[in-house]
Amino acid sequence: MATMLEQLFYSGPGQAVAGKLGLPEPETLRRGRVNPSGPVAVTSLTGSSLGSDTLALLGVAASAALVDDGDEPPAYPARLGALVVDARGLTLLPQLEGLRAALRPAVKSMEPSGRIIVLADDEVSGLEAHAVRQALDGINRTVGKELRRGATTNLIYVRPGTGATDLASTLSFLLQGRSAFVDGQSWTVGPAAATSAVRERPLTDRIVVVTGAARGIGAQIATVAARDGATVVCVDVPAGGEALAALTNQLGGTALQLDITAADAGERIAAQVASRYGDDARIHAMVHNAGITRDKLLVNTDAARWAAVVEVNLAAQLRMNVALLDGRPGGLADDGRLVSIASTSGIAGNRGQANYAASKAGVVGLVRALAPELAGRGITVNAVAPGFIETEMTAKIPFVQREVFRRTNSLGQGGNPIDVAETIGYFLDPASAGVTGQVVRVCGQNLVGA
Ligand SMILES: NC(=O)c1ccc[n+]([C@@H]2O[C@H](COP(=O)([O-])OP(=O)(O)OC[C@H]3O[C@@H](n4cnc5c(N)ncnc54)[C@H](O)[C@@H]3O)[C@@H](O)[C@H]2O)c1
Repeated sequence: MATMLEQLFYSGPGQAVAGKLGLPEPETLRRGRVNPSGPVAVTSLTGSSLGSDTLALLGVAASAALVDDGDEPPAYPARLGALVVDARGLTLLPQLEGLRAALRPAVKSMEPSGRIIVLADDEVSGLEAHAVRQALDGINRTVGKELRRGATTNLIYVRPGTGATDLASTLSFLLQGRSAFVDGQSWTVGPAAATSAVRERPLTDRIVVVTGAARGIGAQIATVAARDGATVVCVDVPAGGEALAALTNQLGGTALQLDITAADAGERIAAQVASRYGDDARIHAMVHNAGITRDKLLVNTDAARWAAVVEVNLAAQLRMNVALLDGRPGGLADDGRLVSIASTSGIAGNRGQANYAASKAGVVGLVRALAPELAGRGITVNAVAPGFIETEMTAKIPFVQREVFRRTNSLGQGGNPIDVAETIGYFLDPASAGVTGQVVRVCGQNLVGA
């Protein structure tokens, strides 16, 4: 519940005070399965056609990007919806000029919630090519900080052999409002043995399990999965039973009251799926969302506080994965999806959160180790690392500190649970088979962290 101070802050007079303090009113971000409204431009710096091929596969019409060759950059005739720069094949530092020349006019003409998407090679050889590869990351992060009004930029490193079908779900996610709070990030996409086409309801006839689904981010993950066609199995502690029942009534899934720290939690989830949907039923995706905080400075953190957080946020999912991956009825399908929720606290560290940061950094380690192990079964393993998301968890942070966390990112606002849920939906998509071992921050390019 909002505090009185908060109510004042968000009231008309409060906003006037915020304006005087130099705090701009946050932009309303474009969200959902909605493409940019303005035209899309594409350019290739060294002749790769992957960017334009993928846009064509998605049915997105794109025109040639304008290029700056003088003091005054050429202006697009209309506000630009998105620019896709195919920078694959770049190996020499002078070639970075091509990127500057394409970005300059686009940044100037970008519509609110517009998009810049840069494609680059993941594998390069030679010192200069490595310098170029990393320089692209620096440019991407900086442009993210310079774009205004909810526009974002992201960089996708592409493994050798990646085709337009492998890249399509990523490009679609980035163009659409689903990626509203993903900014200044980079991750890697590779070729997949089998990739489905991008579809509007990609999870039709698939079972998705979400832990911690009674409220907050978990409830949104279940809602987005159901919107995308999934049959959802919503798991939460018995204390959250009423909210869980209300959600599953609304979404048409199954509620399972279960503390995930139970030694047999994985077995019980599989048993529930098998008894409800038949012995042949398999889970398409397991979303390890349940998490807790028990914040204290390390000097005040006793063993119980430490253990509670590590147990719920990390150890429980390790145990559940073992049961769900052993091929039992109701377990995870080959070609399935494992998704965990990390946190920017796990990436950057956060004062007062040694236990939480340990658990969330551990999640990152788990994802990176498990992904190659399960690649042969077609199972992808990924994580999101949310920054400041407006939920009951973050509502507990004292107001002033919360206002600082909320605003110190490139989009100047907190994210919504749906922003995390949409990113997870992107991982769950059968068309995202080439996305594995990745940790994507959903943080509006939070100033804290990598
Ligand atoms: N809100 C944020 O800004 C933020 C930022 C980074 C990461 N996260 C992570 O996102 C996830 C969801 O966070 P949220 O903000 O929605 O939290 P929340 O506290 O609003 O909801 C968490 C849910 O998990 C359930 N849960 C807790 N322990 C459980 C257990 N042992 N077994 C089953 N269910 C259990 C709770 O009952 C609750 O319904 C967590 O993993 C959290 O660490 C949140």
